[in-house]
Amino acid sequence: MKKKRVGILISGRGSNMSSLIEASKASDYPAEIVVVISNRPDAEGLRIAARHGIKNIALDHRAYKSREDFEKDLHQALIDTDVELVCNAGFMRLLTAGFVEKWHNRQLNIHPSLLPSFKGLHTHQRVLDEGVKITGCTVHLVRTDMDSGPIIAQAAVHVEPDDNADSLALRVLQAEHKLYPLALALVASGKVVVKNEKAVICSQNGPSRSDEQHILYAPSLSPE
Ligand code: GAR
Repeated sequence: MKKKRVGILISGRGSNMSSLIEASKASDYPAEIVVVISNRPDAEGLRIAARHGIKNIALDHRAYKSREDFEKDLHQALIDTDVELVCNAGFMRLLTAGFVEKWHNRQLNIHPSLLPSFKGLHTHQRVLDEGVKITGCTVHLVRTDMDSGPIIAQAAVHVEPDDNADSLALRVLQAEHKLYPLALALVASGKVVVKNEKAVICSQNGPSRSDEQHILYAPSLSPE
């Protein structure tokens, strides 16, 4: 099996990046992480990537005159490493239509809510403010609008009565760490097809039941 070459874009601590790196170490995982790029030179994730022996690049967006100039170097860095798929993992920079188009259906993002609800920042506080009972996380293909695009996979997480934004963020993050490797595996193994702007999961012989079952993590109603 030829593994798909993946570049990860980060801005901070890189825990989702770490979960993808760990998953990619399995010999039967269909993707390998070949480069990690951060728009913030002080991102902890860059140091983690270095410890794993993965090529890591800091592209400080503040050093560029325009978004387009920054994205030109970002794109070139991905091309220079023969990247086939891009994973945004806590990459907190809006991308222009020009960049998004270049990676159409080849760029994934993870967001800590059940999209299309609660796009943007301060997700968990807004979830709590609305009294939502079930939240979660979503991996989707990137489109120009922030946190939008065909949904590949989602995981559901209970909101507990005594949750605050930090406790909820932590539980959602644990779900993110399971979901992102699964979603990337689906895309890297060619099981995701986009039809009418919806991601459909299928295998060579038609939709695979076991793949579908992996997609939703239903919250347990009783304590574990
Ligand atoms: C994650 O919770 C991710 O879902 C979120 O940023 C965090 C990054 O954490 N991304 C977004 O909000 C994108 N809209 P990490 O650096 O530890 O992976």
